[in-house]
Amino acid sequence: MGKGNTMQISEKTILVSGASSGLGGACVRRMIGLGARVIGIDRSPASNELTALPSNQYWHGQSDVTDEQSIRDVIGHGTARFGALSGAIACAGVLHGERLLGRDGPASLEAFRRVLDINVGGTFNVVRLASESIASRETTQPDGERGVIIMTSSIAAFDGQIGQAAYAASKGAVAAMTLPLARELGRFGIRVVSIAPGVFETPMMQAASEKVRQPLLEDSVFPKRFGYPEEFAAMVQQIFENPMLNGTVLRLDAGLRM
Ligand SMILES: NC(=O)c1ccc[n+]([C@@H]2O[C@H](COP(=O)([O-])OP(=O)(O)OC[C@H]3O[C@@H](n4cnc5c(N)ncnc54)[C@H](O)[C@@H]3O)[C@@H](O)[C@H]2O)c1
Repeated sequence: MGKGNTMQISEKTILVSGASSGLGGACVRRMIGLGARVIGIDRSPASNELTALPSNQYWHGQSDVTDEQSIRDVIGHGTARFGALSGAIACAGVLHGERLLGRDGPASLEAFRRVLDINVGGTFNVVRLASESIASRETTQPDGERGVIIMTSSIAAFDGQIGQAAYAASKGAVAAMTLPLARELGRFGIRVVSIAPGVFETPMMQAASEKVRQPLLEDSVFPKRFGYPEEFAAMVQQIFENPMLNGTVLRLDAGLRM
């Protein structure tokens, strides 16, 4: 790799949404371990694990990603404490399953709107406000890089299952936003990459029934297991550190085609 082009995560300020659980929680641990200062966002309070982190490295802003003013306030408070952002990892999201024509009639339009609002609107809200902070930073990187934005799509964006119309639409939208955002933010020295995870062992998936989990395990090519959240965080680290990753959606799925 060219000298000095790799983004150093140590002592940078990174925003993580969905910080209280699963994939977001693993990203918080990884970034803290690498010496970053992390601003966590979640609608849930900080877990015991997050509360135990050193206060000069972690600050928790309990808020809803769809709320314009509270996300602006969290980024404002967090960056006043830790300095302007060098990165944002958008993990907050919700899973929803409902057949279009179920036993009780057509699927709920309200539920469809809620999933889109959180998974797409919430991601867009976090990314637009984070990019404003990243763009305000001075940069000394040889390439002029200021920061990195990582969004969480899903393989459901490409092979959504029965009952996943809302979820697949929301994750498809995240995948589709990746290239236009990268093109737009390139002139500020900001890269944008999405990860499309297969199935990861998090509270979201642990809540699914064996009837849902088992076929997903069987259809994985190799290894035949669900991913560990730490493996998602390792991919996040690589995206930060590899300046040639931009404008793309990376599947991380053990070859699973649902
Ligand atoms: N686990 C998987 O197998 C998997 C696969 C593909 C994609 N994903 C995606 O990865 C992301 C993280 O999922 P996870 O498995 O860690 O789930 P999770 O349920 O363990 O964690 C999600 C976190 O997001 C938070 N959140 C939800 N809605 C929010 C809102 N409106 N405002 C603020 N915080 C909110 C929740 O409180 C929770 O802490 C999600 O976007 C999910 O769709 C997960």
